[in-house]
Amino acid sequence: MKSFYLTTPIYYVNDAPHIGHAYTTVAGDVLTRWHRQRGESVWFLTGTDEHGQKVMRTAEQNSVAPQAWVDKLVADAWKPNWEALNIANDDFIRTTEPRHTERVQKFLQSLKDSGHIYAGKYEGPYCVGCEEFKLPGDLIDADGEKLCPIHSKPIELVNENNWFFKLSEFAQPLIDHYKNNPEACQPESARNEVVSFLEGGVSDLSISRSTFDWGIPVPWDTDQVVYVWFDALLNYATAVGLTDAPDSEGGKKFAATWPADVHLVGKDILRFHAVIWPAMLMAAGIEIPKKVFAHGWLLVGGEKMSKSKLTGIAPSDITDHFGVDAFRYYFLRAIPFGSDGSFSWEDMSARYTSELANDFGNLASRLAAMIEKYCGGKVPAVAKDAALAESLQITVDKADAAMVALDFQGGINAVMDYCKQVNGFVTIKEPWILAKDPANQAVLEEVLYNTAEALRALAVLLHPVMPATTEILWESLGAKEALGEIGKQEISNVATWGQLPQGATVTKTPVLFPRLEVKE
Ligand code: MSP
Repeated sequence: MKSFYLTTPIYYVNDAPHIGHAYTTVAGDVLTRWHRQRGESVWFLTGTDEHGQKVMRTAEQNSVAPQAWVDKLVADAWKPNWEALNIANDDFIRTTEPRHTERVQKFLQSLKDSGHIYAGKYEGPYCVGCEEFKLPGDLIDADGEKLCPIHSKPIELVNENNWFFKLSEFAQPLIDHYKNNPEACQPESARNEVVSFLEGGVSDLSISRSTFDWGIPVPWDTDQVVYVWFDALLNYATAVGLTDAPDSEGGKKFAATWPADVHLVGKDILRFHAVIWPAMLMAAGIEIPKKVFAHGWLLVGGEKMSKSKLTGIAPSDITDHFGVDAFRYYFLRAIPFGSDGSFSWEDMSARYTSELANDFGNLASRLAAMIEKYCGGKVPAVAKDAALAESLQITVDKADAAMVALDFQGGINAVMDYCKQVNGFVTIKEPWILAKDPANQAVLEEVLYNTAEALRALAVLLHPVMPATTEILWESLGAKEALGEIGKQEISNVATWGQLPQGATVTKTPVLFPRLEVKE
């Protein structure tokens, strides 16, 4: 059976990660965890983009050889960052690994052999920040100087003899593809942009560079290195065995993963993924990815947050204060996936307190405290509140449809609305008043069972978003012992009411979302 295969961009290792990078990778992690909980086989790839002038120059500025520079940043900054954010990737590809470089060379040679590559001369503007050959219309004019609109920095003029890929041949097939398969590029605004770009005409692409050597040598012309984007895009396929013989391990992996189901990218790199990448695959006769999804930017002062503009915020600046799970939750909950969003400390504090600490965390701690106090710390007899049970099913259906459509905000909202409903249920039933009269014990136990059962479902549904916190809740409900690992609970089974067995031991949780320290 083919796995659900999701990728993030591979990040440039010219610097340490910031929250823009984390935004994409967390989204990928949440989506793949969701798919795993749908019972699907999943493959989740992330990694680092290590060649090219941008990385090479940063290494030079730091007086370190490029390989030593990338080795250090990957080991000290990138991998620990993903671990700290609880990212459960299945593989991590680095473009300097032989498994990648060898397959890139094989792939390139095959395109050359099949007549898709020819010698030419490139003369024009290049932005090292984007690592992109720019079209004159892409640039902004500042007092006669041409700037890259993304980096607000001057472009450089390149004049080189290079190898070219016949990209122009694939413009029409790609237009047809996106018209026939609208789901292949999303959201709709991104698809429209790609189609109009293609309709405007596409030139062939220079796919090698000859003025520096930090890259993969072109196999038949080793004075040149492969253009960094041509090298980088291939990671999605080299990581799962592209070009390996079908009966080899790599070949089998390729058959079990390819085509990728979703390439998650920021909108800044949409064209590479929706134009160049599928054209490369079409030229090689390989199936193209099922979907490229372009999300928006995290903005600071109205501009794309970036390290090069010194507006980058390290994930740890936020997680030190709010915790990892609140970080994972906040950006997906607050910003519709596909739109830009401004990060604001105040908005994050407000949501943390009202949604996570009050609505969710308090419900969990109140329930555990009441079961301890009124039921001797044991889950009471199974009971079913029809309204809660029914709206749980509606919640699961809504959340599942939204999540698989990458509408994280819609999915999380559906679950948090249910959380509100459960809070309303507890408020109306007033178990603390019921507890005053022993004659109400049976009713009291029903209320507590229903609340516990709703919390069981909330823990499972929020697990992909907040794995660590929901695990604590899961254990506190006695669910781990009774029902097994939380990550193994299937979404399709969440709404089956009555899973927590009578007698399961409930223990008080540590506070799931502690009160925030006042920031000086
Ligand atoms: N190395 C290329 C990608 C190659 S993929 C074959 C690259 N790397 S990058 O380090 O610049 O990171 C790009 C990705 O990081 C963006 O596409 C986006 O997913 C994420 N983001 C970087 N800055 C961001 C924001 N300010 N906001 C949201 N996402 C951001 O491009």
